[in-house]
Amino acid sequence: MHSPERDNLASLKSMKDEALQGGGRKRIEVQHSKGKLTARERIELLLDEGSFEEFDLLKTGRSSSGDGGGEYPGDGVITGHGTIDGREIFVFSQDFTIMGGSLGEAHSHKINKIMDHAVRVGSPIIGLNDSGGARIQEGVDSLAAYGEIFSRNVMASGVVPQISCIMGPCAGGAVYSPAMTDFTFMVEDSSYMFVTGPNVVKTVTHQDITADELGGAQVHNEKSGVAHFAFPNDILCLREVRRLINYLPSNNKQTAPFLDLRDPIERTDPALDYLIPANPNQTYDMKILITSILDGAEFLEYQENFARNIICGFGRLGGQTIGLIANQPAVSAMLLTFLSFAWWTYLDSCPVLNRSTAVSSGTAPNCSMPL
Ligand code: HXC
Repeated sequence: MHSPERDNLASLKSMKDEALQGGGRKRIEVQHSKGKLTARERIELLLDEGSFEEFDLLKTGRSSSGDGGGEYPGDGVITGHGTIDGREIFVFSQDFTIMGGSLGEAHSHKINKIMDHAVRVGSPIIGLNDSGGARIQEGVDSLAAYGEIFSRNVMASGVVPQISCIMGPCAGGAVYSPAMTDFTFMVEDSSYMFVTGPNVVKTVTHQDITADELGGAQVHNEKSGVAHFAFPNDILCLREVRRLINYLPSNNKQTAPFLDLRDPIERTDPALDYLIPANPNQTYDMKILITSILDGAEFLEYQENFARNIICGFGRLGGQTIGLIANQPAVSAMLLTFLSFAWWTYLDSCPVLNRSTAVSSGTAPNCSMPL
């Protein structure tokens, strides 16, 4: 028998099924063929199993219809919250299979909503960026939509940790916002950060340049310093984001999580007696000292490939998170160069550590300080 309720439920189910397909099977295959996971697969890997609660699955934008592509429920971004090792996290994941993950008004409203919730409850925000930037079909409205996100990036800075993963060819606003966040991860050979892509550069300036040269993981981790971590694929990248979260407090009023790695505080390492050469003209590798003193030899290095004569990163002493800054005598004879002042940007990200301790070693000026 005909029942309006049943019809409504059936149509709701079919709308949800359609939303879960993103841009469709063919585009998902293209995404996979480039070594990239889909936006939903990434969220599944990032968060604890079964913890994700999605917001606004069926929200559509003004350009979702009318561009010849039909309706796109979700408007190219998946948003919601879940947990990492039991701690609350807010997340958005852009879907490149829908209009290149580009950002329009509704897409931005969804991101704004989770950023507002994250600041209200004091939880980290993680953005999985895979987007061509401002959606061309929405013109100036998409630029204004980015303005809303940028202003939230500023207001959330120093309040909750903001982490960005660049997981595809990201252009324009899709990199300006991540550049304002605390930590930026990239994936080697499949992620890029640029103002616009090589084809547009060629059209406008007649310059031939590859995506790697213009804004690949190597350029941003070694030369520009815009990115802080690079990993070979999506899976490793997301695993390391989970690891970083374990060093951070959820907000500026909490302390970082305590983790007892069962490393006895009275442990000694006789090898350290021989690490520093008697001759001051000889160098040594500071990383040996760092891994030796930290709990469980666990060290998460920040900007490993940028200004390698200074070492920054996170570890634990007595179970407590510490931020660590050290000279590296093994590179450039420990001289501080212009690039090595990158540690200032690291200190900028440390306030999210709340009053954890930054430990220094070597001769960098004024850097042994409680933050
Ligand atoms: C709408 C976009 C888009 C965008 C990509 N697409 N970027 N649609 N708005 N910004 C669409 C493409 O039309 C295409 O759709 C699909 O996404 C995949 O794109 P491809 O070009 O086929 O992929 P690829 O070769 O991998 O190149 C990706 C790209 C390139 C490097 C991102 O698409 C590109 O350069 N796009 C333009 C980038 C750009 O200039 N964005 C505006 C930035 S300005 P179909 O249907 O054909 O498959 C900005 C201002 C912010 O963001 C300032 C705020 C104040």
